[in-house]
Amino acid sequence: MVELTIDGKKIQTNPGTTVLEAALANNIDIPRLCHHPELSVSGGCRLCIVNVDGYSNPTPSCGLTCQDGMAIETQNEELLKSRREIIDLFISEHPLDCVTCDKSGTCLLQKYAYEFDITKTSHEFEISKPIYQDDNPFFIRDHQYCILCGRCVRVCDEVVGAKAIDFAGRGFECHIATPFDDPLKDSTCVFCGNCIQVCPTAALTPVSRMGKGREWELDRLKTICGYCGVGCQIEYALKDGKIIYAQSTPDAPVNGEFLCTKGRFGWDFATAPERLTSPMLRRDVAYELGLTSENWELPQKSPLAVRKPKVEDSHIPIDWDTALDLAARKLSENVKEYGPDSIMGLASARCTNEENYIFQKFFRLGIGTNNLDHCARL
Ligand code: SF4
Ligand code: SF4
Ligand code: SF4
Ligand code: FES
Repeated sequence: MVELTIDGKKIQTNPGTTVLEAALANNIDIPRLCHHPELSVSGGCRLCIVNVDGYSNPTPSCGLTCQDGMAIETQNEELLKSRREIIDLFISEHPLDCVTCDKSGTCLLQKYAYEFDITKTSHEFEISKPIYQDDNPFFIRDHQYCILCGRCVRVCDEVVGAKAIDFAGRGFECHIATPFDDPLKDSTCVFCGNCIQVCPTAALTPVSRMGKGREWELDRLKTICGYCGVGCQIEYALKDGKIIYAQSTPDAPVNGEFLCTKGRFGWDFATAPERLTSPMLRRDVAYELGLTSENWELPQKSPLAVRKPKVEDSHIPIDWDTALDLAARKLSENVKEYGPDSIMGLASARCTNEENYIFQKFFRLGIGTNNLDHCARL
């Protein structure tokens, strides 16, 4: 173990821990913008500077490894002045649109401007990168809100492995770009949206979220993504019962803060008008059972050959009791007539482990067949 003091508090920590990590683990908050616990150290924003006994200058705590006997000071007038100056410089080229900004309430720049009581810049104001990119259907990139923290670049490289974006240009020209500033869809971007997740400002915003409500008006619902067997935890942000956007949360046990493109953007089926909300029975079977007066003839060609077939042409909605009774009757008739191996079960990755366990048990013991398979992923 390594022993040091932070703001006079004796702290023991594992070798290799940074001063920022040790401070946060001991409820000592240090302002930070470019740091993200799941990403490598950047050291770019300098907001996390601290004084180290024996060092001549303040040092970023996010890149400083704890050493035995270190004495750290995280708060004093000089550090506060430096941090205020950093935020002052950020907002000298950042529109203070917080009154209408979708990120208001969760934006880190807004949080620190508030905490340091900065209402306007003391420098000359100039938007250095008035670039607005809406070249894809998933999210917009509004560079005037970008503070060049580099979190998006690091997540794309270190977590996603897509390496779609990087810093381009120098000085005031510097901005986050794809190679040759091509549209995102022509880059290696896989549209996972993890860059949106880690962006501390409104520089990256899901299209579905724009203008749909203030952060504090949105309800939150945590659930498990149903797309594949990984079972990532998702948090939906909802307005009036409708999903506005999806994100992950740091406490998600499987996926941490990250999601793939299906989990993050593929949720519009939830309220799609075509979504089936009750069991459907083929119309000719329903006619035979006296459940409908309109018969229907099974077409000779495959239903897959029909473009966008309408389910209500060939099926009618029925209640669950009728559906389950009918399925049980048909299954037992088939087992009696053709034997248990005439039946096959295909389980779904959208079900829970427990549901799939019961499903295989039902097939093995109830029906008496090992004809079972599982769609491991979509
Ligand atoms: S990104 Fe943050 S600081 Fe900028 S306008 Fe939006 S809420 Fe305000
Ligand atoms: S959406 Fe994913 S792949 Fe595309 S730039 Fe963002 S992090 Fe990289
Ligand atoms: S787009 Fe967001 S995450 Fe990327 S550098 Fe700009 S502010 Fe940081
Ligand atoms: S958080 Fe440490 S330099 Fe940005």
